[in-house]
Amino acid sequence: MDNHIITEIADHILRIQINRPGKKNALTVAMYADMAAALERAAHEPSVRVVLIHGHPDVFSSGNDLMDFMKDPPTSEDRPVFQFLRGIASAAKPIVAAVNGPAVGIGTTMLLHCDLVYAGASARFQLPFVSLALVPEAASSLLLPAAIGHLRAAELLMLGEPFSAAKALEYGIVTDVVADGAELDAAVAAAKKLVAKPPAALRLTKMLMKKGMAETVAKHMGEEGVHFAHQLHSPEAAEAFKAFFEKRAPDYSKFD
Ligand code: COA
Repeated sequence: MDNHIITEIADHILRIQINRPGKKNALTVAMYADMAAALERAAHEPSVRVVLIHGHPDVFSSGNDLMDFMKDPPTSEDRPVFQFLRGIASAAKPIVAAVNGPAVGIGTTMLLHCDLVYAGASARFQLPFVSLALVPEAASSLLLPAAIGHLRAAELLMLGEPFSAAKALEYGIVTDVVADGAELDAAVAAAKKLVAKPPAALRLTKMLMKKGMAETVAKHMGEEGVHFAHQLHSPEAAEAFKAFFEKRAPDYSKFD
């Protein structure tokens, strides 16, 4: 057991901790499978009322493991990453997240499917898909423009530069920014408040809030997945991943 995903149920909260700090909580196929299984368990376990997702005080997640992208790219819909994304997008129970340090790629896009997100002041968000020769996932290319407008979404998704917790708050990507180290306590406190609410009313409210977009989100995620898989096999992406592990800037000058 590598313990890269730690799950625990206590006080009606199913806690999912991303726990691979040596690789900045980069997510592997096995980790997606464990997180998808945890969401499945939350859905079916009556004692669970709220899901809480967090990483470490200095890192939430550096996104998909780039070595996995090269060795074992997610090319079909039944892959664990897509099971996880479908699970988080369609979860009936509320999801609360605590974020600090880097939240890159899916480390940011998964937050678009959470209900309450608390960020430490030093959290750094980034959507570097284009810079890696990939396309956005988790329906972020639909949800972000819808939530924050095309121009702001284009800045985040096309330039792909890191942005601060303050900017994430301004854009409505996080619920609140708290002092560094206080994000998990803030998330736990909010989760406990949700646990004390009437559970059916809470689930119905979430369903009503998400219903209008649910089908479109699922369809859009599928479409992103097709382009994502295609780009993963592109020479552009090979250059991007090679450059990351060689610790140098990628050179896209030779591509059309
Ligand atoms: N996949 C695989 N390995 C990763 C990783 C990832 N997404 N992110 C970090 N790592 C590894 C590094 O290769 C390094 O391994 P090493 O110690 O064996 O050399 C280790 O984790 C520490 O990373 P490092 O880059 O030295 O940490 P940092 O604090 O300087 O920077 C990040 C942290 C998150 C900003 C930086 O690691 C990063 O940009 N990672 C890639 C993010 C990314 O592009 N994700 C994919 C999005 S689709």
